[in-house]
Amino acid sequence: MLLVASNRGPVAHARDADGALVARRGSGGLVAGLSALGRGATWICAALNDEDRATVRSRPGLHSVDDGPSAGAARVRMLDIEPSVQEPAYSAVANRTLWFLHHMLFDVPHAPSFGAQFDRDWWAYRRYNEIFAEAVAEEAAPGATVLVQDYHLALAPQLVRAARPDLRIGHFSHTPWAPVDYLRLLPDRVVAEYLRGLLGADRLAFLSERWAAAFLAGCAAVLPEAQVRPGELAMEVDGRRVRLGVHPLGVDVDDLRDRATRPAVEAHHRALLEMVGRRRVLLRVDRAEPSKNILRGLDAYAELLHRRPDLHGEVVHLAFVCPSRSDVPEYRSYLEQVRRRAEEIVAEYGRPDWQPLHLEVRDDVARSLAAYRLADVVIANPVRDGMNLVAKEAPVLSERSAVLVLSREAGAADELGRDALLVNPFDIGATATAFEQALGMDAAERRGRSERLVSAAGACPPSRWLRDQVEALSS
Ligand code: F6P
Repeated sequence: MLLVASNRGPVAHARDADGALVARRGSGGLVAGLSALGRGATWICAALNDEDRATVRSRPGLHSVDDGPSAGAARVRMLDIEPSVQEPAYSAVANRTLWFLHHMLFDVPHAPSFGAQFDRDWWAYRRYNEIFAEAVAEEAAPGATVLVQDYHLALAPQLVRAARPDLRIGHFSHTPWAPVDYLRLLPDRVVAEYLRGLLGADRLAFLSERWAAAFLAGCAAVLPEAQVRPGELAMEVDGRRVRLGVHPLGVDVDDLRDRATRPAVEAHHRALLEMVGRRRVLLRVDRAEPSKNILRGLDAYAELLHRRPDLHGEVVHLAFVCPSRSDVPEYRSYLEQVRRRAEEIVAEYGRPDWQPLHLEVRDDVARSLAAYRLADVVIANPVRDGMNLVAKEAPVLSERSAVLVLSREAGAADELGRDALLVNPFDIGATATAFEQALGMDAAERRGRSERLVSAAGACPPSRWLRDQVEALSS
């Protein structure tokens, strides 16, 4: 029996025009990765909005797959966790602390700052993990395999082990892992509890060797009981061996291509074609997320327009941004800055016959798939990213052999780095130069690079990614 535990689940509920509750597939890379779960699996997740909560309250317990698009999981148990626990655990600890830590997003002269409020938030985070661990212990059959996901549930592996030593426990980090000096921004007792929580798993998995190595270095530096030997993807802790693994998530090429030709996508494709005309398209698709480095991407585009008046009227930048974590103040103000910067660029370079940039802020997967098809250049320039699935999806769908301008700080650079144009995401001049190089590349080179990008992107589709982890846990 396979059991998954994650903060965001495979379904999200909403109200339709008549006010009835409807289930939709949950969003994000984690759900995409776990879409290959088979029937017989159980997925434990949190109710994340009022509609989720209303659904759970009206029908507690396990929901079967027939209740909605649960991304392949046969049964879903949504936990209705009280806001006084959920909000600080999700927003204050998971998103504003651990996410910022691993993506190195702190404005260090001002943040983080760990006082009494953080102690209360950490207590809530611990409670959140306990609630998940209790649900896992209740649902798991004897000897079941449990896959715990991400930084929201770092303490759960140890808690699950304490309650159910018979289970095989894996944990997957979908984020990067912070280097030691940055990890140690956390209070000493917190970082130790955090690492020990994770080490309750039998196996810890990461998207890149780089993140796994950083995790080992962090444990060696912080935990006296961790015995880390150079070159080994494992460690001994209190007489127990904890293994590490690296599983770079890729895309299911056939499924993606199939989804990109559905009627809703075709309609967007026609509308976008009308909007961009014969111009070359430079595309980005991201969550409104500070780690995605949208502002510097816009600055690099402005630099390109400044350097190359000959491109005015010839290129158009589509920047598709999906709202995210708007309860976190840093995210709200980041999105505001993105909007302002986009307006400035349009005001400075726009002409009556040419709008150089279209920023669209909305959650519309069909429109993004349509835009991928039109892309000549794709920019994925995160300051740091566990993987970056846009860098894998876009080359698969581009009908123009898109050139990928990719941050060297994305996990995806491991596999795509040879055929993308790699950039230092902080270097606006170098990013603008990469845009020039991409737009100037001859057709044969574009085709060659694009073919290799597609095969690298499809090398480890979600089904294989999941199977490899389950097999490795039982070996
Ligand atoms: O690990 C990263 C992740 O959890 C992805 O699944 C997803 O892309 C993103 O973060 C979603 O974040 P949230 O669940 O906070 O919207």
